[in-house]
Amino acid sequence: MQYRRLGSSGLQLSALSFGAWVTFASQVGRSVARDLIATAWDNGINFFDNAEGYANGQAESMMGDVIADLRLPRDGYCVSSKVFFGSASDPRPTQKGLSRKHVTDACHGALQRLRVDYLDLYYCHRPDPDTPIEETVWAMDALVRQGKVLYWGTSEWSATQIREAHRIARHHHLHPPTMEQPQYNLLHRERVELEYAPLYAEFGLGTTTWSPLSSGLLTGKYNDGIPEQTRLGHEGHGWLKRMVLGDAEAQRLERVRRFTATAGRLGVAPAPLAIAWCLRNPHVSSVILGASHPEQLLQNLKAVELSDGLDDAAWQQVRAAVG
Ligand SMILES: NC(=O)c1ccc[n+]([C@@H]2O[C@H](COP(=O)([O-])OP(=O)(O)OC[C@H]3O[C@@H](n4cnc5c(N)ncnc54)[C@H](OP(=O)(O)O)[C@@H]3O)[C@@H](O)[C@H]2O)c1
Repeated sequence: MQYRRLGSSGLQLSALSFGAWVTFASQVGRSVARDLIATAWDNGINFFDNAEGYANGQAESMMGDVIADLRLPRDGYCVSSKVFFGSASDPRPTQKGLSRKHVTDACHGALQRLRVDYLDLYYCHRPDPDTPIEETVWAMDALVRQGKVLYWGTSEWSATQIREAHRIARHHHLHPPTMEQPQYNLLHRERVELEYAPLYAEFGLGTTTWSPLSSGLLTGKYNDGIPEQTRLGHEGHGWLKRMVLGDAEAQRLERVRRFTATAGRLGVAPAPLAIAWCLRNPHVSSVILGASHPEQLLQNLKAVELSDGLDDAAWQQVRAAVG
């Protein structure tokens, strides 16, 4: 495994990390979740990502249970939560969003579910149009000062909103956001590569990126339809299918087919190739992986070697394939 600093902070995260979205307490039960965390840990992964909204908090409970069962040393791993969507199935106004109240309640809930005394990373899962950014910055700073959160950050905030959070923090001598959690993969590049470009030097912004395989699309498993026993084939995942395939479904699948053909010509599996491509961006602190089986995780971990193992001509072919 390779370790990278979270932006300009001193926290060293594994370049590949592991998250629980739509898998833990939903697609996979406790036994597979335990195997996944054990496989990740045994291969050097030290950051486990979660959120209050994943399976209404049950993903955090399952992760906390499994980590406790595996007796991972608390000083050896990092765990995160995210606040915004709420963990209640039909959240009331104070049970969601980024108000001081919900940011504080959600932190306490995550600490309990994950069975830890502090969260290493705590993210605002989306911007909240109904809460002034200033209120959220003060709430996050209070949690840091109370020792309940070590690093706070954002997820899918605009560069303008991140800049505003920094301005407020600087003005009041508060802890600014350390990291952002954006989507980043071969099919979704603009925000990380263009919109945030000035922020890396300006604020030492770290990034922990999500969906490196676009929910599995970049493995090529959906090239000829949607197989059962896959994320997009899972009952109740119609919303996810629409999100991943988008409006221009045929065009998107064509780009993926060209990518998987290129992987074939290079003699490598598409999944680690797509993940290795994310790792090649020096502004990525950690690529958060998802997996429903330990075998997938083992295959994806090969991305670390692959990111240094191909020449520039090969990477140019990859870029050309996705357009
Ligand atoms: N901040 C945010 O808003 C946000 C949003 C989404 C995710 N995230 C975080 O990012 C993490 C990773 O995102 P993601 O789960 O979408 O990652 P992803 O790598 O794009 O998709 C993971 C899924 O792809 C399939 N897969 C993975 N490796 C495979 C392989 N080698 N061969 C075949 N299929 C494979 C599996 O699904 P199946 O086997 O079920 O098909 C797996 O669950 C999440 O767990 C979460 O922690 C954050």
